[in-house]
Amino acid sequence: MIRNWLVAAVFAWPALVSAQAAAPAKPAEAAAPAAEAPKAAAPAPDAAKIVSTVCAACHGSDGHSVASSNPNLAGLPAAYIALQLAHFKSGVRPGSVMPGFAATLSPADMEALGEYFSKQKPKPGTARDPALVQAGQKIFRAGIPATGVPACAACHSPDGAGIPKNFPRVGGQWADYTYAQLKAFAGGQRGSDPKGVDVNGHIMAVIAAKLTDAQMRAVAEYMQGLR
Ligand code: HEC
Ligand code: HEC
Repeated sequence: MIRNWLVAAVFAWPALVSAQAAAPAKPAEAAAPAAEAPKAAAPAPDAAKIVSTVCAACHGSDGHSVASSNPNLAGLPAAYIALQLAHFKSGVRPGSVMPGFAATLSPADMEALGEYFSKQKPKPGTARDPALVQAGQKIFRAGIPATGVPACAACHSPDGAGIPKNFPRVGGQWADYTYAQLKAFAGGQRGSDPKGVDVNGHIMAVIAAKLTDAQMRAVAEYMQGLR
């Protein structure tokens, strides 16, 4: 926010200077835009403050979590983050931890937090199990034609960076988190969409339901090392 304000102030300066030059008789009016700049920015949510006081404990202030059950948020699409927060708050996406934190956020907070984490630079992860990685790579790149599983790369991009605004980054994500999400999608806890409001989640739920447990583990492992 401070940075936005600085940018606004810097851009306001030339206008202020030229306004003064054009109308030297009315300095009071010319000074008005500069005085308004900080006022206009004030009501915006302070994402950095919410992050440092609430989110950082689990997701890191730069969007990198230490525990593999907490997702990395760095580089996820801003709109995807805001949508997930809204879904946690409304109960569309259940969970034991996040609904409580999302409940305190306004739609403007959610947008600001999405912007904040989408701008953090994702760090590459490392896969641990070469055999799993090989099987996972096949699924990610080519899908599983025999069972109608589409290539993950088609929507999450070949390098796993995702395609804003609906398709999240999956490259570098913790395999434990990814596996848990695939289980949740397949098991009807995420994206089952009984009220018809989680269109994106439903896309993924249909796909995850076609994966075996071993295939979920393999593709999750591959995605952790994908960069
Ligand atoms: C106590 C730990 C904790 C705190 C604090 C916390 N989170 Fe989370 N967050 C989690 C866990 C665990 C998940 C995975 C939820 C699941 O399994 O569905 C998660 C998931 C998320 C997701 C979904 C990510 C995805 O890839 O779909 C977003 C977005 C998110 N958190 C944002 C936030 C924001 C913003 C804050 C601060 C307002 C916050 N979290 C605070 C633990 C936490
Ligand atoms: C047709 C497009 C499409 C394809 C193909 C696809 N996905 Fe997705 N995926 C999505 C969408 C949309 C979401 C966002 C769901 C939401 O908003 O809750 C998603 C979300 C996810 C998530 C949750 C990420 C997070 O941060 O919580 C994982 C994990 C995932 N996909 C894995 C896969 C894997 C593995 C494959 C291949 C087997 C795959 N996806 C193929 C569209 C797709």
